[in-house]
Amino acid sequence: MGTERFTPGNIIVTGGCGFIGSNFVRWVAKNHPQTHVTVLDALTYAGNVANIVGLPKSQVEFIHGNICDSDLLDRIVPGHDAIVNYAAESHNDNSIADPEPFIQSNIVGTYRLLEAARKYDLHYHQISTDEVYGDLALDDPGRFTPQSPYRPSSPYSASKASADMLVRAWHRTYGLKTTISNCSNNYGPYQHVEKFIPRQITNILDGIRPKLYGDGLNVRDWIHTEDHSSAVWAILTEGRIGETYLIGANGERSNLDVLRDILRMMGQPEDAFDWVRDRPGHDRRYAIDPTRLETELGWKPQHTDFESGLKQTIKWYTDNEGWWRPAKAATEAKYKEQGQ
Ligand code: NAD
Ligand code: DAU
Repeated sequence: MGTERFTPGNIIVTGGCGFIGSNFVRWVAKNHPQTHVTVLDALTYAGNVANIVGLPKSQVEFIHGNICDSDLLDRIVPGHDAIVNYAAESHNDNSIADPEPFIQSNIVGTYRLLEAARKYDLHYHQISTDEVYGDLALDDPGRFTPQSPYRPSSPYSASKASADMLVRAWHRTYGLKTTISNCSNNYGPYQHVEKFIPRQITNILDGIRPKLYGDGLNVRDWIHTEDHSSAVWAILTEGRIGETYLIGANGERSNLDVLRDILRMMGQPEDAFDWVRDRPGHDRRYAIDPTRLETELGWKPQHTDFESGLKQTIKWYTDNEGWWRPAKAATEAKYKEQGQ
């Protein structure tokens, strides 16, 4: 590992009650107990305080609020040394049905946080996505690199690409100490049941047939959310200011293969699912080249066996019905309306 040059003492984690943000908060609580974390979260349909329950109150403080609220930011930001921005509307299908909240939270929200970081001289780390690079053909030998052109396809990915551009501009124009990470598809516990893997697991638990979009051959590059958290910490503490790091764990798989794995692991026939309407503008394939992260910062994923991570994830949803049950019926009703 390179020399650690930023030791965060008191950070704000926005969106820390969502899937990946809460994993990061739990990961920091476990691995860096000297770092205080203020979680700022608006508790949208995707946020759940239960995700950070049980963490030491002396280390993790929760504030209910919106990242677009600059008065609130003026009250809470002073005294902190970094903002790590996970807060966002995160689901592509929702962005196609109604883009407005994506423009507000993902673009305006990022702008307000950047201004607060500038005013109070904080480090700023933006959690972004590989989707800003658009998609690759199934037979393309290439993967996304920090030099790949921005080519977002959906309202969600366009809003994330816009936010990245703001972050770059605030670094270049105002000298703000920024870093950006663009990560591939995360899986693991606490992911909302609207997303692919939890949706299929909880469908099977409920006796509903899983739903596969299009021809099922779209490829996603899966990474366990704990590996995303360790990478973000490495970038926050050792990454070069103004730079972009791509986070991925060599986890390319077609949706059809992932679904067959889930069905087999849950004791179902491999064809016990329904083909449904494709997502408009559906990206074909994502693939990350994580060389910069590995060579500059010495980062390596720990969860390299996807099948075993998937098994643990299935067990978590089986054991934690109380966590996902409240969101399930409304999520499926929304999908039914969309023909998915
Ligand atoms: P999520 O939808 O599970 O959680 C988002 C959280 O942000 C929720 O707790 C929500 O309440 C909060 N939030 C939303 N708008 C807010 C606002 N205006 N103010 C304050 N809080 C707000 O999302 P996730 O899957 O955990 O994704 C987190 C971040 O990681 C997002 O920025 C997403 O773009 C990015 N990302 C996700 C993935 C993935 O595979 N899920 C991969 C790469 C990057
Ligand atoms: O690549 C990173 C991105 O990964 C993040 O930026 C997003 O926040 C995150 O939601 C995720 O986006 P995807 O659109 O790839 O994830 P989703 O879980 O919605 O879908 C994964 C794949 O599975 C995608 O090809 C669509 C397909 N799918 C999805 C659902 C919900 C199905 O075939 N059936 C389904 O029921």
